[in-house]
Amino acid sequence: MLINKELQNFNSATADVLVVGVSKNQNNVANWQQFVDFFGSPIEQWIKEGDIQTDAKSITKIPVFSTQAKVKRIVFVGLGYRKMLTPDILREAFGLVGKTLRQHKTSSIALWVDSFETEEIPASDAVILAAEGMEMGSYTVENYKTTSNVAEITLEQVSFISNADIDELVAGYEVGEIYARAVNEARTLINKPGNLLTSTKLAEYAVELANEYNFEVEILDKAQLEELGMGAILAVNKGSKEEPRMITLKYQATDQWEDVVGFVGKGVTFDTGGYSIKSKSGLVGMKGDMGGAAAVLGAMRIIGELRPNKNVIGVIGSTDNMISGDAFKPDDVITTYSGKTVEILNTDAEGRLVLADAVFYAKQQGANYLIDLATLTGGVITALGYDKTGALTNNKEFFESFLEAADETGEFVWQLPLTENDKKRIRKSDVADLNNSPGSDGHMIFGGGFIGEFVGDTPWIHLDIAGTSDAMSAYDLGPKGGTGVMVRTLATLIERLAEEDSKH
Ligand code: BES
Ligand code: ZN
Ligand code: ZN
Repeated sequence: MLINKELQNFNSATADVLVVGVSKNQNNVANWQQFVDFFGSPIEQWIKEGDIQTDAKSITKIPVFSTQAKVKRIVFVGLGYRKMLTPDILREAFGLVGKTLRQHKTSSIALWVDSFETEEIPASDAVILAAEGMEMGSYTVENYKTTSNVAEITLEQVSFISNADIDELVAGYEVGEIYARAVNEARTLINKPGNLLTSTKLAEYAVELANEYNFEVEILDKAQLEELGMGAILAVNKGSKEEPRMITLKYQATDQWEDVVGFVGKGVTFDTGGYSIKSKSGLVGMKGDMGGAAAVLGAMRIIGELRPNKNVIGVIGSTDNMISGDAFKPDDVITTYSGKTVEILNTDAEGRLVLADAVFYAKQQGANYLIDLATLTGGVITALGYDKTGALTNNKEFFESFLEAADETGEFVWQLPLTENDKKRIRKSDVADLNNSPGSDGHMIFGGGFIGEFVGDTPWIHLDIAGTSDAMSAYDLGPKGGTGVMVRTLATLIERLAEEDSKH
């Protein structure tokens, strides 16, 4: 949807809400006096007395009395000390602005950009962060109540009060919006119940995405997976009435299909644990076991919009993990697509099986770099909590570029070690090449390390998002539920790699 965007000043800006950044040294803001005079309210006194708060990420709203002003309300967003303001704080502060705008069913806003740009964060960056924050912050989870909340209140008009170039502001705002909308799409997928989002449906979504952005798309169904011998994803799918899908999206930016970055996502639409069944409480929330797939699809959407000069392939292995007379069992030995055999010790360690076939397939399709994303283990939550994504890698340089992207988007990632001893334990089996569950000690490493057995020498990063993909409660940038973690980081990485390439 198109938002009308234009440059305005205080006296002409017409909007439901004027958004103003306030810090502890507000007088430094250009035109501050002009603003205070125009609105004719004792704004400075209110700031001094704490009625308008300046602490970072505090929100104060006031109705506008002035008869000459054409804005109905001012939302003040606290920035703390301007010198200490970081992009992350600014984005989160605008997440809270987004929540406030939604509460007031706002359809038009005026952004006083000078009031929240700083020396380190120029206007062009500040609008990206503001747009991203507001769009992510105002997201709500679709519900299925008879009086549904689906009808969205959308922003129709954004005006900028700024000395900067309007084209630059609009361009920046649109990039922020593109990023955040893709995150929100990923969240919606994660929040969909397992009965409504089957593997078939997920594949249909991917086809629609491909058609929208002109990606090459391939959907492998059960018969095709059987033909190809993808025994790992098929083993996980065996107990299900729903068909599995292997989904591939290709974004080709250069003439040759070379230097391809592969994103590989775990798309388990519901994880019962299989015969190694989960507990009553462990089962709840397992509709979100396709967070890795959602991250891949979200990142592909941004790539489709911004069209960076870098080849990207997205591969998603999708099935549910169910129980029936047909289901796979502990002690079973299966043959993966790569030919390696696996002794099943735990049917709840299914994600690594699905990804074993998916990463091998991504390599065959030309991926020269691999990033797999999965809600893979409870172990990562034990190790790092709910706010850090756990990582493994076999390539320092690739991981460093990735970390720079994660730093830019404010998504925290922490690397764990994968040692020869860990690999030995993954390879320990009397009957097969590998086992799928070497133990519960440090088992985030075993989960990711298992996938590493299928990547060979290809530079590879494994991201365990079991803790970060689903928020247990609302936070600055979104509500409880799917977070869309890694969507922005993956897309940023591709943008930065494309920029690097263009320098050579
Ligand atoms: N999908 C789960 C991991 C998970 C746990 C995701 C909590 C989100 C929240 C995964 O398939 C799983 O069950 N992992 C097991 C592995 C174990 C059996 C080796 C785990 O972590 O307990
Ligand atoms: Zn599981
Ligand atoms: Zn799982």
